[in-house]
Amino acid sequence: MIDISLDDFIALPVADKLPFIKDYAILYAQQFQRSQLDEYCKLADAARKIHKNPDGATMMEGLLTHRAALNFFAQPSSRTFLSFNTAQTFLGMKRMSVRDVKISSISKGESLMDSVRTFISYVDMVVMRHADEHAGAIAFWTSMKAHRRLNINGIERPIPIISGGSGTKQHPTQALLDIYTLEKSLETVGGIDKKKIMLVGDLKRGRTVRSLSYLMKNYKDVELYFAAPEEYQMEEDILEFLDNHKIPHQKVGHMADAIDEVDAIYMTRIQDEWDEGAKKDGHVKVNENFIFKEEYLKKMKAHCCLMHPLPKRDEIEESVDYVNDPRVVYWRQERNGMWMRVAIIAKIFNVDKMILAATDSWS
Ligand code: NCD
Repeated sequence: MIDISLDDFIALPVADKLPFIKDYAILYAQQFQRSQLDEYCKLADAARKIHKNPDGATMMEGLLTHRAALNFFAQPSSRTFLSFNTAQTFLGMKRMSVRDVKISSISKGESLMDSVRTFISYVDMVVMRHADEHAGAIAFWTSMKAHRRLNINGIERPIPIISGGSGTKQHPTQALLDIYTLEKSLETVGGIDKKKIMLVGDLKRGRTVRSLSYLMKNYKDVELYFAAPEEYQMEEDILEFLDNHKIPHQKVGHMADAIDEVDAIYMTRIQDEWDEGAKKDGHVKVNENFIFKEEYLKKMKAHCCLMHPLPKRDEIEESVDYVNDPRVVYWRQERNGMWMRVAIIAKIFNVDKMILAATDSWS
């Protein structure tokens, strides 16, 4: 149980929420330590390897046949929704989804607490995306208060809640797959430690870049470059977090100026769905200084990777999609998300060891 009111729980700073959350839910990037990140990457690699073999894929599909998942997406999603669905299928879970709140009881005025309480009486895991930055905390609190518990490896735990993106603030599983992509792309040059990473675009409302910035506390001597127009620059709370963790960061006024210095470039879309009157006047045009041009590939370091959480619009020149350059990794990053989500689910339900143990049998 949880001995704190919902309002008091929501009011706590994230650091003070973490002792309640433990590993019962995935809501904040700050939850993760380096050893866990390394473990997730290893597990994602193992799942990917095993699945290449038909017998390996069949073994994985037998792991969680007794478990059911609900994917509750109250905001648009393609990749996060599909990759969680695919990951659940790979592990043999039963799946359900609520995507259109207009045809759920939420449209009848049901509270989020009541909706979550209903969901967790039918399933063993809820993945949720919501416009409210506190939705994950509300769902977690509700899950703690509800009676239903899962017994996993002899430990009683509440129904796990996994954030698939909350408001403009957090997208922790995206940050995990971004770490996996960075580690793989920078494998030949020692991984993420000591690297310079440039984040470009809407850093103010981009939950992906915010969550990724938090995870940098786990790596040695990383430097961050924030390339964005002033109105979309990184928020003060992230800068303060980076300062507290002694992670150097600098603003960049034109992304071209830093291209040859950095080891990874992470592009993002202008999150104009948060603008007042959004959609009526079409999408916001990106400032030229923050568009990745094909010619920049010539200036990039030989090992530098070009990432994007997707969906993208015009912040990357279209021709970049079709150049045959292994440093353009965003389509691979998308697929990495599926393996990382297999790892996340496997860890929660304690079948990670079975996946790791099976890697030698199916190489
Ligand atoms: C991102 C999101 O939803 O925050 N998409 C994703 O999950 N890959 C990025 C975005 O929408 O721009």
